[in-house]
Amino acid sequence: MVYTPNSARYKNMHYRRCGKSGLMLPAVSLGLWHNFGAIDNLENARAILRLAFDSGITHFDLANNYGPPAGSAEETFGKIFKDDFTSYRDEMVISTKAGWGMWEGPYGDWGSKKYLVASLDQSLKRMGLDYVDIFYHHRPDPHTPLEETMGALDLIVRQGKALYVGISSYSASETEAAIAVLKQLGTPCLIHQPKYSMFDRWVEGGLLDVLGSNGVGCIPFSPLAQGLLTNKYLKGIPEGSRALSHRGNGAMEEDAITDEKIAKVTKLNDIALMRGQNLAQMALAWILKDDRVTSVLIGVSKPEQVTDSIKCLENITFSTDELKLINDILR
Ligand SMILES: NC(=O)c1ccc[n+]([C@@H]2O[C@H](COP(=O)([O-])OP(=O)(O)OC[C@H]3O[C@@H](n4cnc5c(N)ncnc54)[C@H](OP(=O)(O)O)[C@@H]3O)[C@@H](O)[C@H]2O)c1
Repeated sequence: MVYTPNSARYKNMHYRRCGKSGLMLPAVSLGLWHNFGAIDNLENARAILRLAFDSGITHFDLANNYGPPAGSAEETFGKIFKDDFTSYRDEMVISTKAGWGMWEGPYGDWGSKKYLVASLDQSLKRMGLDYVDIFYHHRPDPHTPLEETMGALDLIVRQGKALYVGISSYSASETEAAIAVLKQLGTPCLIHQPKYSMFDRWVEGGLLDVLGSNGVGCIPFSPLAQGLLTNKYLKGIPEGSRALSHRGNGAMEEDAITDEKIAKVTKLNDIALMRGQNLAQMALAWILKDDRVTSVLIGVSKPEQVTDSIKCLENITFSTDELKLINDILR
C-alpha cells in the first residue's frame, strides 16, 4: 500500500537544537542497529519506520556494519526509503558511521582516510542516497593520527557526501582534541554519540561538560541498556527478547540479566510508577532531563515500542527527591 505520512506528525514531538548548530533533532531518534538486518522481517522494519516518521521522528541512525550481515541494515533502509520516503528526504536526518571492522584486509577497519571515504561511498550505494546528513567516526583509533581521521571527515563534507560530521565513543579528552582539529579545518564537530544510560554513566565524568562548553550536541545510544531498563525482564526472560537473540556484534546476552541488576530494575520500576510512567519512559526521560543532550537514540523490535517510548516526553523533569532516590538505587 502506498504510504501517506500522518499529517499531524510534527504536533507532539519536541525538537532540540544540536549544540550550537543550525540543526534541530527530534528529542527521540531511531537507531537501526538491530531488527533491520537481512535476517529480520522486512515488513516489521517498514512498519517501525513508518510509525516513527508518523510520530515526528525525523532522525534515523545507521552504520556501515549494522545487520546482520554487516551492511544489510543500510540495504533494508534503502529499500524502504525508495518505496516510502523518497518524497520526504528533506524532512529526514539520516546518519551513518564507519570505524569498526567492515571488510577484509587493512583498509576496512579503524580510522584511516582510505577506510572512511570508501566506506561512506559503499553506504550511500546501499541506501540509494546522494548524501547523508551526518557521518560519524564510530570509535577512536589509537594508531591513526587524529588529523588524518578528522581530515577524512572534513573531506567528506567538502565532497558533499555528508552535511555534518560527528564522533562516537571518544573519551572526554579525545573529544576535546577532535573538536579542536575539526574547528581548525573549518568543519565543526556537530555531535557526539556516546553510550549512556542509568546503568552506564561514564559521560557524566567529563564528556558532557566538554560537549556543553564547546556547543557540540549529544545523542546517547543504548539508553535502555538494550532493554534491561524496561519492565520486560522483571519476571524472567521473555521469548523473542534481545537477550535471547544471540545476534552477536555487542548485543546483550542472557548473562547480562543478573539478580543484582533485576533488584535495581525492580526498585527503579516502582519510582517510574510513582511518576506515572513505565520504566522505559522514565529511563529515557532521565537522559533527556539534561539539556546538553540533544536527542535520545532508541532501538525497537516492534512498532508498539516506538509509541510506548515516545510517551517519555510527557514528563522529562525530575524532583530533587526523585533524583536522590534514583541515585541511591544506582549506587
Ligand atoms: N555508536 C555506537 O557505537 C552504537 C552502539 C550501539 C547502538 N548504537 C545506536 O543506538 C541505537 C539504540 O541502541 P539500542 O538498540 O541498544 O537501544 P536501547 O533503546 O537501549 O535498546 C533497545 C531494545 O530495548 C527494548 N525496548 C525498546 N523500547 C522498549 C519499550 N518501550 N518497552 C520494552 N522494551 C523496549 C527492545 O528489546 P527487544 O529487542 O528485546 O524487544 C529494543 O530492541 C542503535 O540502533 C544504534 O543506532 C550506536
